[in-house]
Amino acid sequence: MKALVLSGGSGTRLRPFTYSMPKQLIPIANRPVLEHVLQNIREIGVTEIGVIVGDRRPAIEAVLGDGSRLGVQITYIDQEQPLGLAHCVSLAREFLGEDDFVMYLGDNMLPGGVVAIAEDFRDRRPAAQVVVYKVADPRAFGVAEVAADGTVLRLVEKPQQPRTDLALIGVYFFTPAIHKAVAEIEPSARGELEITDAIQWLVSAGEQVGASEYHGYWKDTGRVEDILDCNRELLNGLVGSVQGEVDADSVLIGNVLIEPGARVVRSRIEGPAVVGAGSLIEDSFVGPYASIGKDCVLHSTHVDYSIALDGATVSRVSGVHGSLIGRSAAVTGVHSATRHHRLVVGDHTQVEVAA
Ligand code: G1P
Repeated sequence: MKALVLSGGSGTRLRPFTYSMPKQLIPIANRPVLEHVLQNIREIGVTEIGVIVGDRRPAIEAVLGDGSRLGVQITYIDQEQPLGLAHCVSLAREFLGEDDFVMYLGDNMLPGGVVAIAEDFRDRRPAAQVVVYKVADPRAFGVAEVAADGTVLRLVEKPQQPRTDLALIGVYFFTPAIHKAVAEIEPSARGELEITDAIQWLVSAGEQVGASEYHGYWKDTGRVEDILDCNRELLNGLVGSVQGEVDADSVLIGNVLIEPGARVVRSRIEGPAVVGAGSLIEDSFVGPYASIGKDCVLHSTHVDYSIALDGATVSRVSGVHGSLIGRSAAVTGVHSATRHHRLVVGDHTQVEVAA
């Protein structure tokens, strides 16, 4: 079996971060979302992975390389325009050959993994096996009608009046039967070749299509709130260890990971929390649920339930909560008699200050 990971897309809901980095590289518990995805694929014994990339290819390639660091072999496949998930399958036709494959959306997090679903697919080998999840508002998703035995009866992409609350989430298993379906379908109203339509084509052609309901934690990391929630979920499974330096005046409580070269000085860190390599935490309170990237500086600051990306500085600010702080960004508290706020804020940035 091979894997196809989709990592194009522009990530408009994650601006301003996605002006300078693809959303699939945003770190959760200090590792890019794509690394979590590749780990789940590796876990089902698949190592030949095609990664579909758009104009952010250089950034993705710089992080994942040829995949050997993660125990996989990556083939990059360019998609010049975002013409749909089924279009990605046709672009990867040569790479996929006549193999079965798992298609995985590169911004979906399923920390519990997909081992059981992969086993089920390998045992029964239906033409397609989709993963569904009960959601409150299915209108933003592909929606499945599923029989009691797990057979898919009908699939509709983003229906106005969904007939069930079972949304398709970002993991699909296919036999090569999908290629004929992809070749037969027409673009949807949004001008894309929808994978949902291709799978519905299989259903209509009398092919076997199954659905597995996912009961674990799942997030599409499309919005800041989702990333922070997912960070909390992953940190709950963190194994603490001190690989950097913690001085005698500091206190660590619970599961705290201090990466090599990080220094904690006169600070209190409450787990779960991770401090990335080379960072300095001084006279601060950090955590719970804080992921501090590499080479950050936190000084006289209180940060919890937040993510700081590599090289960020937070100095003399208390009560940083629910925040995502970009690479090499600086957030600084100043004593000002006039009580002015000085803000240099990029496009689509959100700042909430205590009034
Ligand atoms: C895509 C699929 C949709 C699926 C969703 C999962 O939607 O078209 O069927 O439910 O991914 O995240 P998109 O993100 O392109 O709107």
